Amino acid sequence: MGSNIYDERNTLNDLTGSEWKFSTKTVISKPYPINMQHKLRSEHGGQKPPELCADIIKIFTKRGNLVLDPFMGVGGTLLGASLIDRKAIGIDITKRWIDIYKEVSKLENLEEQRTILGDSLKELDNIEDESVDFILTDVPYWNIDTLKQTRNKKIKQSKLNDFDNNTKNQTKEEWLQEMYDILYKASRKLKIGKYMAVFIGDIYRDKQYHFLSAELAMKISEAQDLKMKSNIIWVDNSKSLHVFGYPRAYVPSMIHQNILIFRREV
Ligand SMILES: C[S@@+](CC[C@H](N)C(=O)[O-])C[C@H]1O[C@@H](n2cnc3c(N)ncnc32)[C@H](O)[C@@H]1O
Repeated sequence: MGSNIYDERNTLNDLTGSEWKFSTKTVISKPYPINMQHKLRSEHGGQKPPELCADIIKIFTKRGNLVLDPFMGVGGTLLGASLIDRKAIGIDITKRWIDIYKEVSKLENLEEQRTILGDSLKELDNIEDESVDFILTDVPYWNIDTLKQTRNKKIKQSKLNDFDNNTKNQTKEEWLQEMYDILYKASRKLKIGKYMAVFIGDIYRDKQYHFLSAELAMKISEAQDLKMKSNIIWVDNSKSLHVFGYPRAYVPSMIHQNILIFRREV
């Protein structure tokens, strides 16, 4: 361990000993380039850097493995998988996001992965159980509409309102249950012993910090065979800062997201 040698007994990934050691860090603070048709992808507003997704996929898969994303958006996961020779399946309920993903793949000359348009709760039924090596996904936020109202005008005009297709005005409990239902169903597609990684940002709303990552982690842990293994913090230093509470109150500037790691155990 710690050497630059690939161990033939490695069943998890294609990393050498020293790469493996580095990959277990719980904070990712590496800056990711604004590239891969970023302008087109940012029509979504919640897109993740494909290289970040590739870095995470590398930890949990081997070349040729299959990755699933039930909330694919404009395809951070799928593009990341193509960059490092993995196969992927993505599902999204909004056609526009899948179309943008396909356009980006073409422009970047990357293999177009399999996409499915529809509600994951239904569409996951068409994917074979225990056929997937890794799930990397990024959940739609709870109640983004109300969230928007707490932000300043400049942000209100941003594309954030588009990206989740979430006009449902759910309670937090309803949102947690919906995420659980879809992620649980997705996890049935995982081979036993394989991993699921879920991006989730905490939010500050109604003068209160909502620890959504912790709440979602507890909810997912209700599934007996899904064991939480880590919470990786991704620090996004490219986020622009806005003055929220100044000069009277402390209001956090969210420049991180959580990546919850679960393993499907017997
Ligand atoms: C946070 S975004 C994912 C962004 C993605 N990581 C990217 O890089 O573009 C969540 C996505 O889930 C989709 N979505 C919401 N509910 C869904 C459902 N029930 N089934 C499938 N997709 C859904 C939204 O349309 C949205 O694009």
